[in-house]
Amino acid sequence: CGIVGYVGPNDTVDALISGLRRLEYRGYDSAGIAVTDAEGEISVRKRSGKLARLEELLEVNPVVAGSTGIGHTRWATHGGPTDANAHPHLGDDGKLALIHNGIVENFADLRAELGDVELSSETDTEVVAVLLGREVAATGDLETAFRNVVRRLEGTFTLLAMHRDEPGKIVSARHHSPLVVGLGEGENFLGSDVAAFVSSTRRAVAVDEDNIAIITPDEVRIVDFDGAPVEFAEFEVEWNADAADKGGWSSFMAKEINEQPESVENTVRGRISGGGVVIPELAELGDERLRSIDRIIIIACGTASYAGQVAAYAIEQWARIPVEVQLSHEFRYRDPVLSDRTMVISVSQSGETMDTLMAVKYAIERGVTTVSVCNTQSATIPRESDAAVYTHAGPEVAVASTKAFTAQITALYLVGLHLGRVRGTISAEESAQAVAQFEELPAKLREAVDTHEQVAQLAHWMADTRSVLFLGRHVGFPIALEGALKLKEIAYIHAEGFAAGELKHGPIALIDHGQPVFVLVPSPRTAPLMHSKVVSNIQEIRARGARVIAIVEKGDTAVLPYADDVIRLPLADALFEPLLQVIPLQWFALELSTVKGLDVDQPRNLAKSVTVE
Ligand code: G6P
Repeated sequence: CGIVGYVGPNDTVDALISGLRRLEYRGYDSAGIAVTDAEGEISVRKRSGKLARLEELLEVNPVVAGSTGIGHTRWATHGGPTDANAHPHLGDDGKLALIHNGIVENFADLRAELGDVELSSETDTEVVAVLLGREVAATGDLETAFRNVVRRLEGTFTLLAMHRDEPGKIVSARHHSPLVVGLGEGENFLGSDVAAFVSSTRRAVAVDEDNIAIITPDEVRIVDFDGAPVEFAEFEVEWNADAADKGGWSSFMAKEINEQPESVENTVRGRISGGGVVIPELAELGDERLRSIDRIIIIACGTASYAGQVAAYAIEQWARIPVEVQLSHEFRYRDPVLSDRTMVISVSQSGETMDTLMAVKYAIERGVTTVSVCNTQSATIPRESDAAVYTHAGPEVAVASTKAFTAQITALYLVGLHLGRVRGTISAEESAQAVAQFEELPAKLREAVDTHEQVAQLAHWMADTRSVLFLGRHVGFPIALEGALKLKEIAYIHAEGFAAGELKHGPIALIDHGQPVFVLVPSPRTAPLMHSKVVSNIQEIRARGARVIAIVEKGDTAVLPYADDVIRLPLADALFEPLLQVIPLQWFALELSTVKGLDVDQPRNLAKSVTVE
């Protein structure tokens, strides 16, 4: 879920809606706001469905807002996405409004405590609102009441609350769920992340675990759950407001695919020089420690895990350390073999994915070195980790991840090169060769982005396709998985990725007349053996009626006799091909989603940042 809070003299409804618009990627089952109105009472407007539905409601039933407001965009956990279950929820006979991100696990006990009070929703949040209302009535003070209540909650939460009798104030708490304060002039903000207020201020404070932030237009205070003051430091947000706007593109996803030449360049910037790679954030861990690492486990979910799978090949090759990739939510349940010589690298665009955060915490408890590859400044995972390597790709808004993926691969490659140099497993020449590849990447990525028109045409012809397969070998294998995931996420069709060599061991039975299969063909120059094997795989499926779409490097003519369509990409070293190959697959998913009339940026049932386990 996304949450936003505003106190100040400007248009409160406007501040909330514009914050929610930038946070909508966090969930869009329903949206709502609560504001103090002209009479000083609390007014709520909320509705199931996307934010646009709330905006329609505000048009027919506007509210003249005072100086205080909170807003929420929901990804349903407790209770379906209905109007009644949408946040905010009320307590203290409508004098108090509350929003919540997370899950209150002792909700049933708390509900029982409320006795036969009638609730208007099925949410855990309303129980907290009513409880808080009772506490306010008992103590006469919002802050004390709020502390008393949050101390009793189990589970995960970010909570924001406001009360009619204390206008100009919002109290907020975080426990395993993100919360950031935005510092303005005579106004202050709260948000799930900085996107909530970046159009108004770039000064921010990350609220720490188990702290409470109290904001008024002129003051920000942070205390712990017992009320003891906590010191805090502000940071400057590196994203600018425009970066989180669509800027003329039909969707955020289209904009983000197109941004990849620049975003990858930004990931590399400041980390290569004179043929060498240095990641200062890793250097701080000390060479001794880096040399002692004998095993790397990459943990991530979704697209980020495929970035990890691609990079595992490169890190092993350069740093000669065994690398395995595990899904975050599987990691701790297998009682992993860890030691003080293990490095756990987490990969997360948001830095808030609860599954990944919990895996990182588990790793920390077990005493391993933790490195976070993350795109979001001051998010929880990088702050908890021993070292944070930011991808600097700029805000990614579309739910389907694109530019974060290529930036993650890039950052992980840089980590591999840094480790390789420190450990002496790659020569200065090899490192310089990789650096040269990075330097040439932006121009090549631009060419890969330019496959758009050709791919759009393909998607147009394939509008009725019900199933698509993807084949890849080596680093192409995770790209096949990622191509399939993109299609599932935004075009809602069956799609599967396979290791090309595995096909004959089962999946080839799926091949029937006209079955579309994308094949990622390795370079015949740099990987001749793999190339010839993949060309054989293409012949095998073609002989069984598949419609073959081959993604090849320019000049590769070996596949021409067997491919129905050929997408040509610029030449790159084998390890760098995935960065280019994934781009036509991203476009394909986007275009297929578009021809099917679906919402490219906000696919059904998903949320970009899943802050529940
Ligand atoms: C969600 C999103 C995916 C994303 C995954 C990991 O499931 O829908 O698109 O890849 O989370 O997100 P993260 O922020 O940790 O990279």
